[in-house]
Amino acid sequence: MPTHRIGRVSYVNGRYVPHSDAAVHIEDRGYQFADAIYEACEVRNGSIVDLTRHLDRMDRSLRELRISEPMSRKALALVLAEVIRRNRVRYGSIYLQISRGVARRDHPFPTRPVAPSVVVVAKHGDQKKNDAMAVAGIGVITMPDLRWGRVDIKTVGLLPNVLAKQAAREANAREAWLVDDAGFVTEGGSSNAWIVTADGVLVTRPEGPDILSGITRRGVMDTAEKLGIRVELRAFTVEEASQAREAFITSASSIVMPVVTINGKSVANGHPGTLATHLREQFHGVVEARNLSTRIPI
Ligand code: PDD
Repeated sequence: MPTHRIGRVSYVNGRYVPHSDAAVHIEDRGYQFADAIYEACEVRNGSIVDLTRHLDRMDRSLRELRISEPMSRKALALVLAEVIRRNRVRYGSIYLQISRGVARRDHPFPTRPVAPSVVVVAKHGDQKKNDAMAVAGIGVITMPDLRWGRVDIKTVGLLPNVLAKQAAREANAREAWLVDDAGFVTEGGSSNAWIVTADGVLVTRPEGPDILSGITRRGVMDTAEKLGIRVELRAFTVEEASQAREAFITSASSIVMPVVTINGKSVANGHPGTLATHLREQFHGVVEARNLSTRIPI
């Protein structure tokens, strides 16, 4: 892949610009108030995985925050495709952020309407490295969930997630599982959390204001249904997870990633579980993938 020959290009408010010059104004409300939403999608074989669901969730986040839609869905899909194309990304991710826009700093919404800011950034990924990580499995640590009450909205207000993930890194773990006041795992710092019971049932927390409704989580539910694996939507404690047959996380960047240690203690035999591994293998055969280089049927 001749990625070193071409400069990275990002999209900022109507323009494709060299990545190193890509910038928004210092009074962008995303920058000052985290008054912005985002989506991060997997790119695989040059196509965006599960684009429709990501754009549906984006619409919902915008509605919840009363940020106006910056452009039509078709136009947005074209911009995403163009950024992927210009950066020659075959495998990696595409990041989309929409803020309320630029206005003199004042907490309430701007009184005069401002145009939302739109930023799109593509990133190359290393598929071999990710697959190797899934073969080895990852460690998670647990931390109190210190976030606000509407984490179902995918905002860029991620400071507690940042701190939790940094703590994980410093503990040589890949993810932090966030735990509510009652001792139940909500989700990971940037992923949803799952376990497998002794009976081979998948367990993950139901949708609600306390978790992000992950697109990969949905795709794994569809994959499980196709494979005849039962899914139970309920919360689980750290204790239950530590005794589980398997544990794993899901996200657009990790798809299905087996968890082999929790707070340094092995889950089951300390190796990736068979169900998590099977779900990872089958996932892309079930979810939507659009070849954006040919046409965009939206
Ligand atoms: N993170 N929970 C949180 C807090 C997340 O940030 C994410 C995604 C998920 C999984 O959602 P999805 O399956 O739609 O990726 C759950 C992305 C990858 C990120 O922040 O980069």
